Amino acid sequence: MAVKRRAGGVALPSFAKVNLGLEVLGTRADGYHELRTLFQTVALHDDVLLEPHPREVSVRCAHPGVPLDGRNLACRAAEGLRRWAGIRQGVTITLVKRIPVAGGLGGGSSNAAAVLMALDRLWRLGLGPSGLHPHARRLGADVPYFLMGGTALGLGRGDEVYPLRRQVRAQVVLAFPGPAVSTAAVFARLDRSLTPREDSHTIFRFISNDSEGASTYSALTNELEEAALQEAPDLADRVKAIRGILIREGAQLALLSGSGSSYFGVFGDAARARRAHRAVRSAGFGAVRSRTLTFDQYRTIWWRSFATLSRARGWVQGREGHHGDHGRQGHPRR
Ligand code: C5P
Repeated sequence: MAVKRRAGGVALPSFAKVNLGLEVLGTRADGYHELRTLFQTVALHDDVLLEPHPREVSVRCAHPGVPLDGRNLACRAAEGLRRWAGIRQGVTITLVKRIPVAGGLGGGSSNAAAVLMALDRLWRLGLGPSGLHPHARRLGADVPYFLMGGTALGLGRGDEVYPLRRQVRAQVVLAFPGPAVSTAAVFARLDRSLTPREDSHTIFRFISNDSEGASTYSALTNELEEAALQEAPDLADRVKAIRGILIREGAQLALLSGSGSSYFGVFGDAARARRAHRAVRSAGFGAVRSRTLTFDQYRTIWWRSFATLSRARGWVQGREGHHGDHGRQGHPRR
């Protein structure tokens, strides 16, 4: 979709993630599940275009699978932040989707985090990642991760995020066997067989092992994979075929991402990744070749984007009204 930018419009990348490992330890009192997960940003991204509007917050997107009403996370992110900061100005959000929708790659959550980070700058709220965290976690369990990016540990619902000293640098092949799978349905199915436990070891082993190489990924699993394949039985054969190709072509790790249905392979070198990508496509599956982004790379890309945001015209300078009763979550700097 060609996007025409109007005065004051800014464009930002919004990256996808994969889960290099995901362990489900049990259910929580709030109905969510206690997780240990390894988040990893990949270079595949959507574009998020923001244009100032005198009053309204709205979202546009040509992709038929993206809701354009109050269910849209990017729209809710802008509405929530605007209400909290007491800003009357609106924003028109245009999403150019490349990340598959509902594919376990965090596209919607990433779009919402990009909107939060950009509006924090454009409206000069001065919240930064820690001030935006409560806004992000209200939107969804994966949203806080995208305030940080890179290789990170996710605890709790996945919304307590810690960047890791060990940042993965690797080639990634993402395969899209479709159809979309409902995250809530996958977790509900998992509950039938879940044995709660206190701790997990494979992810902690990965964190404490500093050396690169195939063996460091070997113990990592995605504990949602079995439930996702039971939830979408059509997927099982396709996933088996894709996994077979990725492993045969030398993937160091091949897993379902999140609750699926995207499946990915991690490769140590570009030649193998290229061959695997070609093989997955020749077998009739949609696929893209990408690479990981480290915490520093993610931050640098954002800092560059911030420089363009600070030059954008037509945006209000700071808050116009009151916070209501949300003051405890951090105050916009004046
Ligand atoms: O937070 P988010 O809306 O992305 O989560 C989607 C669904 O996934 C939740 O409604 C919940 O059913 C399930 N979920 C969970 N435990 C988590 C994260 C998500 O049960 N830690």
